[in-house]
Amino acid sequence: MIISNFLTNRKSVRDFRDKGANPDVLDKIKEIIKNLLTEEDLEHIVVKLYENGKIISTNLEGKAGYGGVMIDSPHYIAISLKDTEEKTLIETGYYTEKLVTEIINLDFGTCWINVGNLSDDLKKETFGEDMANVEYLLAFGKAKRKNPFKEEPYSVKKGIEEIVYDTEVDNFFTVEDLEAKGLMDIFYYVRFAPSTKNLQPWRFLIKDNKIELLLRYNQWYDSILVDAGIAMYYFEQLATYDGFNSKWELVDSQEIKIDEYTYRKIAEYKL
Ligand SMILES: Cc1cc2nc3c(=O)[nH]c(=O)nc-3n(C[C@H](O)[C@H](O)[C@H](O)COP(=O)(O)O)c2cc1C
Repeated sequence: MIISNFLTNRKSVRDFRDKGANPDVLDKIKEIIKNLLTEEDLEHIVVKLYENGKIISTNLEGKAGYGGVMIDSPHYIAISLKDTEEKTLIETGYYTEKLVTEIINLDFGTCWINVGNLSDDLKKETFGEDMANVEYLLAFGKAKRKNPFKEEPYSVKKGIEEIVYDTEVDNFFTVEDLEAKGLMDIFYYVRFAPSTKNLQPWRFLIKDNKIELLLRYNQWYDSILVDAGIAMYYFEQLATYDGFNSKWELVDSQEIKIDEYTYRKIAEYKL
């Protein structure tokens, strides 16, 4: 599917049907995970499919999910991190979201669940002795049918004019100027990327033929780097579709503070 259409329709699913995927589809997902880990040479991330979601949702009831209610899904994928280096967290977002796109393309709904705060004992009991460092889960399964007469809650996304800066922070790019640079579509669609609590921390600063990725926050949280990795993944997909073929390069973090916000530069994309 064209990446722009994919992103417009990509929404977190929290209501799943009980019935799980057929065994052949689960085998296919195992294959996708195996390929991802080997092709991308992901040494710092462990990804494991749990076919029987009931055990996990029962164990985590009241401890993770949405507003204290566990998201029940027929299956989960656990993401365990071997370290918490910044690069590992960014890769976690980038490659897990690549996995998400493949799962959604198999016609499933997904939702990220942060489980970083669970105790090591509960993680071991739920995911196995070797999985004490699980930080995220992906719930997945068939979405429940929606009531066509009921408006579904949805996450409001920031406008392009709020996230793209011209040369310096808070000097906003106009939509016309972005259009002239051929960048309008990329920024229009990247806004649909998921992020922790829909905080949408990404800001893009365009300067001297490159785009700097800044993270804006007033309180640092580790999964902000996962959010960054997700946006970097979609940005590259959209940019490739529009004929740009660079990749994000990580840079040594630099911070500036403006009023109550810190802006942390983490990567650059050459135009
Ligand atoms: C790293 C990360 C962690 C998340 N953790 C949770 C979570 O613990 N529970 C939950 O219900 N949603 C979680 N989400 C989903 C976000 O709340 C969701 O992406 C955001 O509200 C935007 O909504 P959308 O995905 O429908 O666009 C997480 C998303 C990301 C990227």
